Order: sequence, then structure tokens, then C-alpha cells
Amino acid sequence: MARIFILNGVNLGALGERRPEVYGEQSLKDIEGLVRGEFPDLELDFRQTDEEGEYIAWIREAAASDGLILNPGAWTHYSYAIHDALEVVYVPKVEVHLSNVHAREEGWRRVSVVSPVVDAVVAGMGASGYLAAVRYLLGL
Ligand code: DQA
Repeated sequence: MARIFILNGVNLGALGERRPEVYGEQSLKDIEGLVRGEFPDLELDFRQTDEEGEYIAWIREAAASDGLILNPGAWTHYSYAIHDALEVVYVPKVEVHLSNVHAREEGWRRVSVVSPVVDAVVAGMGASGYLAAVRYLLGL
């Protein structure tokens, strides 16, 4: 059985209440249920934290998995610590954003310090982006 980590970062625990016009009306629990429902045979480590150090520890833990999907939230745009942690995790990695960050605020939101150290990026597909990321990993 494939083991895949899905790591959600800062503020993603507030999905559902937080700017639904941008991030959708589903809570993170709803999204987790969607992914588990679609891929019942996978061993999924679906997690969220607002603590950057904890997030980095989980990234390291994912080194022993078959693939890593990550939505680091706002850390995407400035966390060199997350960049450096990802750089030495040698499993396939996909960065996911619910919103199309490239069509939002100019400047900081269009920059990702994480993209250079992942294999693929999905943005703007809402919760379906997580499903697309899992399908990509399974197809490798
Ligand atoms: C996000 C986009 C980020 O810019 C933002 O800070 C988030 C969510 C997304 O999923 O669209 O928290 O990663």
C-alpha cells in the first residue's frame, strides 16, 4: 500500500470560514474526507499545523513515504526553512494551492520559495487540486 503525506500549513485549519470566495466553502476535514473517499486504499497522513517547526519535522518524516503533497499556506511565499527541508527529501513532491496564487496580489503572493524544490505545482483547482496531486503521484 502506498503511503502519501498531505501536509497543510498555516491558517489552513480555518478553511470553510476563511474567505470562502477565495478558498471555497469546504473545511479541511471536508477536503480530507474527499481525498480519503477517492483513494480508500492509500495510507494517507493528512495533517495541518500552524507551527513551522512541526511542519518541517513532518516534511522530514515524509522522506520515508512514497510521496509528499504540501500546501504550506503563506509560508509558501517566504519560508526558506521549508525550502531547505524539502531540498533533502528525495520522494516525489507536489505543491498545492486551492487558489490561483498567480492571479492574486502582485508581488509577494505570486512568489513561491517552495516551487524550485518540488516536482509539480497545482494552483487554482480548489479541493480538486489535492485529488490531481494524488493522481499524479500514483501515475509516476
Ligand atoms: C494558499 C495560498 C496562500 O497564498 C495563502 O497564504 C494560503 C492558502 C492556497 O491554498 O491557495 O494560506 O496556499
